[in-house]
Amino acid sequence: MTRGELLSLLAPYGQEHLLAFWDELDEKQRASLAGQIARLDLGLIDRLYHQGDRRADYGAMAARSQSPPAIRLPPARNPFSREEAVAQGRQALAAGKVGAILVAGGQGTRLGFPHPKGMFPIGPLSRRSLFQIHAEKLRAVSRRYGSAIPLYLMTSPATHDETVSFLAQQQRFGLAEEDLFIFCQGTMPAVDARSGRILLAARDRIALSPDGHGGMLAALARSGGLEHMRNRGIELLFYFQVDNPLVEVCGPEFLGYHLLSGSEMTTQVVAKRHPLEQVGNVVQIDGRLHVIEYSDLPDEQAHRRAPDGTLAIWAGSIAVHAFARSFLERTAAMAEALPFHIARKKVAHIDSAGNPVEPVEPNALKFERFVFDLMPYADRAIVVEIDPAEGFAPVKHGAGDGYGTPTWVQSCMMAQHRRWLRQAGAELSEDVPVEISPLFALDAEELAQKIAPGTIVAQPTFFH
Ligand code: UD1
Repeated sequence: MTRGELLSLLAPYGQEHLLAFWDELDEKQRASLAGQIARLDLGLIDRLYHQGDRRADYGAMAARSQSPPAIRLPPARNPFSREEAVAQGRQALAAGKVGAILVAGGQGTRLGFPHPKGMFPIGPLSRRSLFQIHAEKLRAVSRRYGSAIPLYLMTSPATHDETVSFLAQQQRFGLAEEDLFIFCQGTMPAVDARSGRILLAARDRIALSPDGHGGMLAALARSGGLEHMRNRGIELLFYFQVDNPLVEVCGPEFLGYHLLSGSEMTTQVVAKRHPLEQVGNVVQIDGRLHVIEYSDLPDEQAHRRAPDGTLAIWAGSIAVHAFARSFLERTAAMAEALPFHIARKKVAHIDSAGNPVEPVEPNALKFERFVFDLMPYADRAIVVEIDPAEGFAPVKHGAGDGYGTPTWVQSCMMAQHRRWLRQAGAELSEDVPVEISPLFALDAEELAQKIAPGTIVAQPTFFH
């Protein structure tokens, strides 16, 4: 595209400044910048900026929200028994109807780890990466049910190349080539908060960032992922985030509740341990499920109590979902199904003279879609409560040993594995470091078949 053609694209939206350094660029840089401009949806960006941060009134939504339809712990009062659910889930797994979606577009920046987060070495003794642990869980489930589970792995432009070469180097941690479908999510530009002008990261480069995990839907459709699922006969997708090594990947009980209840989208939740816990809140409003992020939930609503004294807004999403494939197909066809959330962030850029600017205050707006915004579109949606000790320990940031740090995550992993060892009849003290590879045992029952009762574990031990 010529400079003139680009200008005629940009001018109606007041974005001509993107060509400010055109005369200084060589042919290659011009072609690259022209490509970036051509891929922008300028009308959409203009609309999002001008409609502004027209946030939903989350306080009002929370005030009239109700508890979502739920499978609770303990299971005594649920409409389906644990056994029925497990049987349904197993059947779907054995029939090859289940696939997995792993979103891994995030960098390990908050961990002080300048690589894709999935490469972070989380294994308390093995130092195995998040990617390896997830891949081994998938292989172990596939092996148990005698049927391959394809993995749809979402990267972002920031993590794509490094993820692809890391997985290739490691022989995909044993996943078969035809069972790994890697696809890259899209991007959105950052705009100056005061003027709405798209920021330049460099003279030939627009400041782009991933379009949120909700970008998964469009990226799956665009990349042929949805078609791949259809061709493989996949009917049910287990969705999870790369940051949670405790997740029970494709657990049959969870999948079973989803199937038995005829749900289109099912979400794992924990009963919030305190009102301000940093998890999305699943609520029901006018018969539809919604997630209200912790940052959007007013304190008084977070503290609201049900008549029995428990938290009224109790269901904390751990961002693990089951989707009917048909639901993903239906919503992918609705162009605007997922709204954009607007966040004020600090975004480094160059100014009109080409000088680098490192803002100290949030200067820019970023636009992101969230996958949980699909929930209200589901004709039927439920939540399934899990015990966080058996399924939720996300690694979020680096320093110290509190919630979300690697030290804390590793202590949760070891606590789970010590519990399994004791259930399998082993004897061990509370502080001996242990780790169990998913390929050695996926749960306490499998472990019991591998170790003799009375086994004493006195030394740090990695079972693999
Ligand atoms: C997220 C959820 C929150 C939930 C919590 C559970 C959001 C907005 N909030 O919080 O409701 O309780 O997880 O741990 O999601 N990712 C991409 N591409 C993107 C953005 C994110 O692939 O463009 C992936 C990341 O790699 C990561 C996951 O999505 O695996 C979560 O993103 P993160 O920003 O860490 O979400 P949280 O705010 O921690």
